[in-house]
Amino acid sequence: MAKVPRYEKAFLILSAIMLVVFLAALGYAAFGMGLHLPTRAGQIRPEDVSRTPPFDHPGVREVEPGRWEAVIVARAWGFTPPEIRVPVGQPVTFKITSVDIVHGFYVDGTRINLMLLPGQISQLEYTFRRPGEHLLICHEYCGAGHHAMVGRVIAE
Ligand code: CUA
Repeated sequence: MAKVPRYEKAFLILSAIMLVVFLAALGYAAFGMGLHLPTRAGQIRPEDVSRTPPFDHPGVREVEPGRWEAVIVARAWGFTPPEIRVPVGQPVTFKITSVDIVHGFYVDGTRINLMLLPGQISQLEYTFRRPGEHLLICHEYCGAGHHAMVGRVIAE
């Protein structure tokens, strides 16, 4: 058997250890912390968004005891509704779409970070652990009013 130089062996072992560490981190994030990627929950023609449920009535509602839904519509340059109130300690499913162009949806201090494509329903579940006010911002450049495209999420 060919002799493997010592430093090469060391790098092989180091790579193997790193692989295991990265896999463990991924597993911990997915199963331990419950981090999941936002899902694409459906597609509506952008011009039909405002008359398609649930986007015809944006806002926060309790869909079953202890489970909430926050429906939000993005357009240049604002969110409808611009301010939402969500309960602390109960799962909230965000369902958001855009009626015109690409926008972003980032709730400061949380891992809620979505890209909003016209007519595509972006969905993410999140549970607020503490009461507080969070700034909501559009983080995809969307034109002249981009910097003013903000809102508020109040957990109470
Ligand atoms: Cu909407 Cu930037």
